[in-house]
Amino acid sequence: MSKVVIPGQMVLVVGAAGMLGSALVPLLLKDGYEVVAPSISELDITDLQATRVLVRGVAPSAIVNCAAYTAVDKAEDERTKAELINSEGAANIARTAQEAGAKFIHISTDFVFDGKKNTPYEEDDEASPLGVYGSSKLAGEQRVQAFGGDFFIVRTSWLYGQGNENFVTKIAERAKSLKELQVVFDQVGTPTYTLDLAEAIVNLMQRDLESGIYHFSNEGLASWYDFAVAIVDGLKRRDVVLSVETIKPVLSSAFKRLATRPPYSVMDKTKYKDSLGLTIRNWNEALSFYLDDIVRNGRLK
Ligand SMILES: NC(=O)c1ccc[n+]([C@@H]2O[C@H](COP(=O)([O-])OP(=O)(O)OC[C@H]3O[C@@H](n4cnc5c(N)ncnc54)[C@H](OP(=O)(O)O)[C@@H]3O)[C@@H](O)[C@H]2O)c1
Repeated sequence: MSKVVIPGQMVLVVGAAGMLGSALVPLLLKDGYEVVAPSISELDITDLQATRVLVRGVAPSAIVNCAAYTAVDKAEDERTKAELINSEGAANIARTAQEAGAKFIHISTDFVFDGKKNTPYEEDDEASPLGVYGSSKLAGEQRVQAFGGDFFIVRTSWLYGQGNENFVTKIAERAKSLKELQVVFDQVGTPTYTLDLAEAIVNLMQRDLESGIYHFSNEGLASWYDFAVAIVDGLKRRDVVLSVETIKPVLSSAFKRLATRPPYSVMDKTKYKDSLGLTIRNWNEALSFYLDDIVRNGRLK
Protein backbone atom coordinates (compact mmCIF):
# COMPACT_ATOMS: atom_id res chain seq x y z
CA MET A 1 0.00 0.00 0.00
CA SER A 2 1.28 3.41 -0.92
CA LYS A 3 0.45 6.33 1.33
CA VAL A 4 -2.01 8.89 -0.05
CA VAL A 5 -0.66 12.34 0.80
CA ILE A 6 -3.28 15.06 0.58
CA PRO A 7 -3.35 18.87 0.99
CA GLY A 8 -2.87 19.94 4.61
CA GLN A 9 -0.20 17.29 5.16
CA MET A 10 3.49 18.03 5.51
CA VAL A 11 5.89 17.60 2.58
CA LEU A 12 9.66 17.94 2.89
CA VAL A 13 11.30 19.10 -0.35
CA VAL A 14 15.05 18.61 -0.52
CA GLY A 15 16.98 20.56 -3.17
CA ALA A 16 14.21 23.15 -3.21
CA ALA A 17 16.42 25.95 -4.58
CA GLY A 18 17.15 24.02 -7.79
CA MET A 19 15.22 24.20 -11.04
CA LEU A 20 12.65 21.52 -10.21
CA GLY A 21 12.37 22.50 -6.54
CA SER A 22 11.59 26.09 -7.62
CA ALA A 23 8.51 24.82 -9.48
CA LEU A 24 7.46 22.20 -6.94
CA VAL A 25 7.44 24.24 -3.71
CA PRO A 26 5.06 26.99 -4.95
CA LEU A 27 2.76 24.35 -6.47
CA LEU A 28 2.57 22.41 -3.19
CA LEU A 29 1.84 25.61 -1.26
CA LYS A 30 -0.83 26.63 -3.80
CA ASP A 31 -2.41 23.18 -3.41
CA GLY A 32 -2.60 23.66 0.37
CA TYR A 33 0.27 21.46 1.57
CA GLU A 34 2.48 22.34 4.52
CA VAL A 35 6.00 22.54 3.11
CA VAL A 36 9.46 22.51 4.63
CA ALA A 37 12.14 23.30 2.05
CA PRO A 38 15.62 23.48 3.61
CA SER A 39 18.48 25.08 1.71
CA ILE A 40 21.71 23.15 1.27
CA SER A 41 23.17 25.07 4.23
CA GLU A 42 20.26 23.88 6.36
CA LEU A 43 20.44 20.28 5.14
CA ASP A 44 23.27 18.52 3.35
CA ILE A 45 21.81 15.17 2.31
CA THR A 46 25.23 13.52 2.40
CA ASP A 47 25.14 13.89 6.20
CA LEU A 48 22.99 10.98 7.42
CA GLN A 49 22.79 12.19 11.01
CA ALA A 50 21.73 15.72 10.02
CA THR A 51 19.17 14.27 7.57
CA ARG A 52 17.79 12.01 10.28
CA VAL A 53 17.49 14.84 12.81
CA LEU A 54 15.72 17.10 10.31
CA VAL A 55 13.34 14.41 9.06
CA ARG A 56 12.44 13.40 12.62
CA GLY A 57 11.80 17.04 13.53
CA VAL A 58 9.64 17.75 10.48
CA ALA A 59 7.79 14.39 10.55
CA PRO A 60 6.69 14.73 6.91
CA SER A 61 4.05 12.61 5.21
CA ALA A 62 6.10 12.75 2.01
CA ILE A 63 9.67 13.60 1.08
CA VAL A 64 10.60 14.71 -2.45
CA ASN A 65 14.29 14.56 -3.30
CA CYS A 66 15.07 17.21 -5.94
CA ALA A 67 18.65 17.54 -4.67
CA ALA A 68 21.36 16.23 -6.93
CA TYR A 69 24.77 16.80 -8.40
CA THR A 70 23.69 17.79 -11.92
CA ALA A 71 26.86 19.10 -13.61
CA VAL A 72 27.07 16.41 -16.29
CA ASP A 73 30.52 17.28 -17.67
CA LYS A 74 32.12 18.31 -14.37
CA ALA A 75 31.03 14.98 -12.90
CA GLU A 76 33.64 13.26 -15.11
CA ASP A 77 36.30 14.98 -12.99
CA GLU A 78 34.37 14.86 -9.71
CA ARG A 79 33.23 11.25 -9.52
CA THR A 80 33.51 11.03 -5.74
CA LYS A 81 31.42 14.14 -5.17
CA ALA A 82 28.79 13.13 -7.76
CA GLU A 83 28.49 9.66 -6.21
CA LEU A 84 28.35 11.04 -2.70
CA ILE A 85 25.40 13.32 -3.50
CA ASN A 86 23.55 11.23 -6.09
CA SER A 87 24.00 7.82 -4.48
CA GLU A 88 24.86 8.21 -0.77
CA GLY A 89 22.62 11.28 -0.44
CA ALA A 90 19.70 9.48 -2.10
CA ALA A 91 20.23 6.49 0.22
CA ASN A 92 20.25 8.76 3.28
CA ILE A 93 16.88 10.23 2.34
CA ALA A 94 15.43 6.83 1.45
CA ARG A 95 16.54 5.45 4.83
CA THR A 96 15.20 8.37 6.85
CA ALA A 97 11.94 8.46 4.86
CA GLN A 98 11.41 4.83 5.73
CA GLU A 99 12.24 5.44 9.40
CA ALA A 100 9.69 8.28 9.43
CA GLY A 101 7.02 6.29 7.54
CA ALA A 102 7.01 8.96 4.81
CA LYS A 103 6.23 8.38 1.15
CA PHE A 104 9.46 8.99 -0.79
CA ILE A 105 9.66 10.47 -4.27
CA HIS A 106 13.14 10.46 -5.76
CA ILE A 107 13.98 12.14 -9.08
CA SER A 108 16.24 10.43 -11.59
CA THR A 109 17.22 10.85 -15.20
CA ASP A 110 17.09 9.60 -18.80
CA PHE A 111 20.92 9.59 -18.61
CA VAL A 112 20.77 6.15 -16.96
CA PHE A 113 20.26 4.85 -20.54
CA ASP A 114 22.96 4.56 -23.21
CA GLY A 115 20.65 5.79 -25.97
CA LYS A 116 21.23 2.85 -28.30
CA LYS A 117 17.51 2.14 -28.68
CA ASN A 118 15.39 3.92 -31.24
CA THR A 119 12.03 3.39 -29.58
CA PRO A 120 10.99 4.94 -26.25
CA TYR A 121 12.66 3.53 -23.14
CA GLU A 122 10.40 1.66 -20.74
CA GLU A 123 10.96 1.55 -16.99
CA ASP A 124 12.42 -1.96 -17.02
CA ASP A 125 14.71 -1.49 -20.02
CA GLU A 126 18.31 -2.15 -19.17
CA ALA A 127 20.08 0.89 -17.73
CA SER A 128 23.60 1.37 -19.01
CA PRO A 129 24.83 4.91 -18.38
CA LEU A 130 27.52 6.47 -20.56
CA GLY A 131 29.03 8.80 -17.97
CA VAL A 132 29.65 9.47 -14.29
CA TYR A 133 26.52 11.59 -13.80
CA GLY A 134 24.28 8.82 -15.21
CA SER A 135 26.05 6.07 -13.29
CA SER A 136 25.87 8.02 -10.02
CA LYS A 137 22.13 8.57 -10.58
CA LEU A 138 21.65 4.88 -11.38
CA ALA A 139 23.52 3.96 -8.19
CA GLY A 140 21.12 6.28 -6.32
CA GLU A 141 18.12 4.52 -7.87
CA GLN A 142 19.52 1.15 -6.82
CA ARG A 143 20.10 2.32 -3.25
CA VAL A 144 16.55 3.69 -3.05
CA GLN A 145 15.11 0.44 -4.44
CA ALA A 146 17.18 -1.60 -1.98
CA PHE A 147 15.46 0.15 0.95
CA GLY A 148 12.10 -0.72 -0.57
CA GLY A 149 9.02 0.59 1.21
CA ASP A 150 6.85 3.38 -0.11
CA PHE A 151 9.04 4.87 -2.82
CA PHE A 152 8.69 6.30 -6.32
CA ILE A 153 11.62 6.93 -8.63
CA VAL A 154 10.61 9.41 -11.32
CA ARG A 155 12.95 9.48 -14.30
CA THR A 156 12.72 12.66 -16.31
CA SER A 157 14.59 14.48 -19.09
CA TRP A 158 15.71 17.83 -20.50
CA LEU A 159 14.23 20.10 -17.79
CA TYR A 160 13.52 23.79 -18.19
CA GLY A 161 11.37 26.15 -16.15
CA GLN A 162 10.95 29.28 -14.10
CA GLY A 163 13.58 30.64 -11.79
CA ASN A 164 16.80 29.17 -13.14
CA GLU A 165 18.98 29.50 -16.21
CA ASN A 166 18.13 26.65 -18.60
CA PHE A 167 18.35 25.70 -22.29
CA VAL A 168 15.44 27.99 -23.22
CA THR A 169 16.87 31.07 -21.51
CA LYS A 170 20.36 30.31 -22.85
CA ILE A 171 19.10 30.03 -26.45
CA ALA A 172 17.05 33.21 -25.99
CA GLU A 173 20.08 35.05 -24.64
CA ARG A 174 22.31 33.94 -27.52
CA ALA A 175 19.62 34.62 -30.14
CA LYS A 176 19.55 38.24 -28.96
CA SER A 177 23.26 38.82 -29.45
CA LEU A 178 24.46 36.39 -32.17
CA LYS A 179 23.68 36.07 -35.89
CA GLU A 180 24.25 32.30 -35.97
CA LEU A 181 23.58 29.57 -33.43
CA GLN A 182 25.01 26.07 -33.80
CA VAL A 183 22.91 23.40 -32.12
CA VAL A 184 23.34 19.62 -32.08
CA PHE A 185 20.82 17.55 -34.00
CA ASP A 186 22.14 14.04 -33.25
CA GLN A 187 20.77 13.87 -29.69
CA VAL A 188 17.06 13.20 -29.46
CA GLY A 189 14.97 13.35 -26.31
CA THR A 190 12.00 15.13 -24.80
CA PRO A 191 12.06 18.62 -23.29
CA THR A 192 10.15 18.70 -20.00
CA TYR A 193 8.61 21.74 -18.34
CA THR A 194 9.31 21.70 -14.59
CA LEU A 195 5.76 22.77 -13.79
CA ASP A 196 4.37 19.70 -15.60
CA LEU A 197 6.83 17.45 -13.76
CA ALA A 198 5.92 19.11 -10.45
CA GLU A 199 2.25 18.34 -11.16
CA ALA A 200 3.16 14.74 -11.94
CA ILE A 201 5.00 14.47 -8.61
CA VAL A 202 1.94 15.79 -6.75
CA ASN A 203 -0.26 13.33 -8.68
CA LEU A 204 1.97 10.44 -7.62
CA MET A 205 1.92 11.68 -4.03
CA GLN A 206 -1.88 11.69 -3.97
CA ARG A 207 -2.40 8.14 -5.26
CA ASP A 208 -2.13 4.69 -3.81
CA LEU A 209 0.07 3.16 -6.51
CA GLU A 210 2.59 0.40 -6.71
CA SER A 211 6.06 1.58 -5.67
CA GLY A 212 8.76 1.56 -8.32
CA ILE A 213 10.10 3.49 -11.27
CA TYR A 214 7.87 5.80 -13.34
CA HIS A 215 8.96 7.71 -16.45
CA PHE A 216 7.72 11.25 -16.85
CA SER A 217 8.51 13.88 -19.48
CA ASN A 218 6.34 15.91 -21.80
CA GLU A 219 5.06 14.04 -24.87
CA GLY A 220 6.79 13.96 -28.23
CA LEU A 221 10.44 14.13 -29.13
CA ALA A 222 12.96 16.60 -30.47
CA SER A 223 16.63 17.06 -31.13
CA TRP A 224 18.31 19.96 -29.33
CA TYR A 225 18.27 21.64 -32.77
CA ASP A 226 14.47 21.19 -33.07
CA PHE A 227 14.08 22.54 -29.54
CA ALA A 228 16.21 25.62 -30.32
CA VAL A 229 14.26 26.31 -33.54
CA ALA A 230 10.97 26.10 -31.62
CA ILE A 231 12.31 28.51 -28.96
CA VAL A 232 13.48 31.08 -31.51
CA ASP A 233 10.26 30.80 -33.58
CA GLY A 234 8.20 31.13 -30.41
CA LEU A 235 10.11 34.26 -29.34
CA LYS A 236 9.74 35.82 -32.80
CA ARG A 237 6.00 35.17 -32.72
CA ARG A 238 5.92 37.03 -29.40
CA ASP A 239 7.72 40.03 -30.97
CA VAL A 240 10.95 39.58 -29.03
CA VAL A 241 13.72 41.39 -30.92
CA LEU A 242 16.45 38.91 -31.92
CA SER A 243 19.72 39.16 -33.87
CA VAL A 244 19.82 35.53 -34.93
CA GLU A 245 19.47 34.83 -38.66
CA THR A 246 20.59 31.19 -38.87
CA ILE A 247 20.29 28.16 -36.62
CA LYS A 248 22.76 25.62 -37.91
CA PRO A 249 22.31 21.91 -37.10
CA VAL A 250 25.67 20.39 -36.10
CA LEU A 251 26.92 17.02 -34.86
CA SER A 252 27.71 16.54 -31.16
CA SER A 253 31.33 16.08 -32.19
CA ALA A 254 31.40 19.81 -33.08
CA PHE A 255 31.57 20.53 -29.34
CA LYS A 256 34.27 19.11 -27.10
CA ARG A 257 32.54 17.89 -23.96
CA LEU A 258 33.82 15.68 -21.19
CA ALA A 259 30.71 13.51 -20.90
CA THR A 260 29.08 11.55 -23.71
CA ARG A 261 25.32 12.05 -23.94
CA PRO A 262 22.85 9.34 -24.98
CA PRO A 263 21.95 9.92 -28.66
CA TYR A 264 18.35 8.87 -28.00
CA SER A 265 16.66 9.14 -24.61
CA VAL A 266 12.94 9.40 -25.28
CA MET A 267 11.01 7.69 -22.48
CA ASP A 268 7.78 5.72 -22.62
CA LYS A 269 5.25 7.21 -20.18
CA THR A 270 2.54 4.55 -20.54
CA LYS A 271 2.97 3.33 -16.96
CA TYR A 272 2.44 6.82 -15.52
CA LYS A 273 -0.49 7.62 -17.83
CA ASP A 274 -2.28 4.30 -17.36
CA SER A 275 -1.73 4.15 -13.59
CA LEU A 276 -3.12 7.64 -13.10
CA GLY A 277 -5.62 7.76 -15.98
CA LEU A 278 -4.03 11.00 -17.20
CA THR A 279 -2.66 12.42 -20.43
CA ILE A 280 0.51 14.49 -20.75
CA ARG A 281 0.81 17.57 -22.95
CA ASN A 282 3.24 17.74 -25.85
CA TRP A 283 6.56 19.53 -25.28
CA ASN A 284 5.64 22.17 -27.89
CA GLU A 285 2.48 23.12 -26.01
CA ALA A 286 4.34 23.26 -22.68
CA LEU A 287 7.12 25.37 -24.23
CA SER A 288 4.53 27.79 -25.59
CA PHE A 289 3.06 28.18 -22.10
CA TYR A 290 6.53 28.83 -20.63
CA LEU A 291 7.46 31.36 -23.37
CA ASP A 292 4.18 33.22 -22.75
CA ASP A 293 5.07 33.43 -19.09
CA ILE A 294 8.66 34.60 -19.44
CA VAL A 295 7.92 37.11 -22.22
CA ARG A 296 4.79 38.51 -20.58
CA ASN A 297 6.37 38.79 -17.16
CA GLY A 298 9.71 40.17 -18.37
CA ARG A 299 11.64 37.17 -17.11
CA LEU A 300 13.65 37.12 -20.31
CA LYS A 301 16.80 39.13 -19.65
N1 LIG B 1 18.09 19.49 -15.26
C1 LIG B 1 17.76 18.50 -16.11
O1 LIG B 1 17.72 18.69 -17.34
C2 LIG B 1 17.43 17.13 -15.57
C3 LIG B 1 17.15 16.10 -16.48
C4 LIG B 1 16.81 14.84 -15.98
C5 LIG B 1 16.78 14.61 -14.62
N2 LIG B 1 17.08 15.62 -13.76
C6 LIG B 1 17.02 15.32 -12.32
O2 LIG B 1 16.01 16.15 -11.77
C7 LIG B 1 16.35 16.49 -10.42
C8 LIG B 1 16.27 18.00 -10.25
O3 LIG B 1 17.20 18.58 -11.16
P1 LIG B 1 17.40 20.16 -11.24
O4 LIG B 1 17.71 20.48 -12.65
O5 LIG B 1 16.31 20.86 -10.53
O6 LIG B 1 18.76 20.28 -10.42
P2 LIG B 1 19.49 21.60 -9.93
O7 LIG B 1 18.86 22.83 -10.49
O8 LIG B 1 20.95 21.39 -10.14
O9 LIG B 1 19.18 21.59 -8.37
C9 LIG B 1 19.72 20.64 -7.52
C10 LIG B 1 19.66 21.22 -6.12
O10 LIG B 1 20.26 20.26 -5.22
C11 LIG B 1 21.05 20.97 -4.29
N3 LIG B 1 22.06 20.10 -3.72
C12 LIG B 1 23.22 19.67 -4.29
N4 LIG B 1 23.90 18.91 -3.41
C13 LIG B 1 23.17 18.86 -2.27
C14 LIG B 1 23.37 18.27 -1.01
N5 LIG B 1 24.45 17.56 -0.73
N6 LIG B 1 22.41 18.44 -0.06
C15 LIG B 1 21.30 19.17 -0.32
N7 LIG B 1 21.07 19.79 -1.49
C16 LIG B 1 22.00 19.62 -2.46
C17 LIG B 1 21.66 22.09 -5.13
O11 LIG B 1 22.17 23.12 -4.31
P3 LIG B 1 23.37 24.03 -4.86
O12 LIG B 1 22.87 24.65 -6.13
O13 LIG B 1 23.60 25.00 -3.76
O14 LIG B 1 24.51 23.09 -5.11
C18 LIG B 1 20.44 22.53 -5.95
O15 LIG B 1 19.66 23.46 -5.24
C19 LIG B 1 17.72 15.89 -10.17
O16 LIG B 1 17.57 14.65 -9.55
C20 LIG B 1 18.28 15.67 -11.56
O17 LIG B 1 19.22 14.61 -11.57
C21 LIG B 1 17.40 16.87 -14.19
